[in-house]
Amino acid sequence: MEARRILVAGSGGIAAYKLPEVVRALVQAGHDVRCALTPEATRFVSPLVLQALTQSPVRHALFDPSEESQIDHISLADWAELVVVAPATANVLAKLAHGLADDLVTAVLLATRARILVAPAMNVNMWEHPATRENVERLRGRGVAFAGPEAGELACGWVGQGRMAEPLDIAAAAELELGAESLAGARVVVTAAGTREAIDDVRSLTNRSSGRMGFEIAGEAARRGAEVVLVAGPTPLSTPAGVERLDVESALEMRDAVLREAETAQIIVKAAAVADFRPAAAVHGKIKKENLAPDTGMTLELVRNPDILAELCASKGDRVVVGFAAESEELIPAAQRKLARKGCDLIVANDVSRADAGFDVDTNAVSFVWPGGEVEELPLLSKRDVASRLLDRIEALRAKRRAGSGEGRV
Ligand code: CTP
Repeated sequence: MEARRILVAGSGGIAAYKLPEVVRALVQAGHDVRCALTPEATRFVSPLVLQALTQSPVRHALFDPSEESQIDHISLADWAELVVVAPATANVLAKLAHGLADDLVTAVLLATRARILVAPAMNVNMWEHPATRENVERLRGRGVAFAGPEAGELACGWVGQGRMAEPLDIAAAAELELGAESLAGARVVVTAAGTREAIDDVRSLTNRSSGRMGFEIAGEAARRGAEVVLVAGPTPLSTPAGVERLDVESALEMRDAVLREAETAQIIVKAAAVADFRPAAAVHGKIKKENLAPDTGMTLELVRNPDILAELCASKGDRVVVGFAAESEELIPAAQRKLARKGCDLIVANDVSRADAGFDVDTNAVSFVWPGGEVEELPLLSKRDVASRLLDRIEALRAKRRAGSGEGRV
């Protein structure tokens, strides 16, 4: 098995005494493992044991000059492909949910772009407290994976849910999170976010797409080993690890970038919200009211933008091309018409009238609409999970094609 870079981070709970077993299992599976501890965790598990197991120094202070000189905490966050937090106390979950970073472990968790797997361990009342429930939901919605906790006898004497998952189960969950390099060798182009169409040098027309869905797809494809190009409209989102990003503004710029990059791609996912129209002529400088008749409105003439997806599909060859359909009514029939009109392999239909799906939220409720007329409705999931399911389907479609068994739903 290929060695992956895993950071195992421990926080201060009695279950930390099992941390060496988690680390040993991951090392034995051939991975490159490093450890970081909160100062409290060092009271339950010896850094020296973890150092011996990983053959690497174990960090436990945020600003210790000698530790920072060996590898600073940002480098550690960047180095990891996966961060496993075991045990994750209620305190660590709360800090992670709210973005606090007042020790080494939480600072690394905030700085990393790697996947995060947490193995909670705490008293049952703490686990069931509404504050913890909210934090857990928030983290799940953000794509953080959970191993456990399990029910049983707790160190504090209570019986109930809160026991850390078994070390081997945590190691198995880590393997799952890392995923197989199932898209190695494939070149994937993903588009994301809305385009911005200039009215003048100051103003523009755009839409509410945040780009999160496309960014998650790009990140997931990279985790699966693909070479990923992300063509992104204006968005403050940071680039997922391992992804090459091309920033564009207008639909015309996006078209040029996508058509160029698509030539060498095998998979194209068009999650961008491309503006359908642009001002007929962008005015240089700023349109001034004093140059207009007083108390009158202003008419903006718009012309159509090219449909990039339809253009791509017209010369699709054996590429897999996936489109998105943002609809506010008649979701499935509208998506089916769009699929037929554009000729892509799959449409991801998105009901943008829902508050918990679509624009600017971490969750999404989508349906996969296939050319054969089949519709697969997914439950409300984090955008990361939607990305994962979508790439599973794309991989299955490619496998089916390789086996020569045609098109349609996989
Ligand atoms: N799309 C595109 N070029 C455009 C418009 C849309 O490539 N000029 C792509 C989007 O990236 C998405 C799909 O087409 O994958 C559907 O986009 P959507 O905005 O839902 O549909 P439209 O084709 O714009 O149709 P309408 O706005 O009428 O629903």
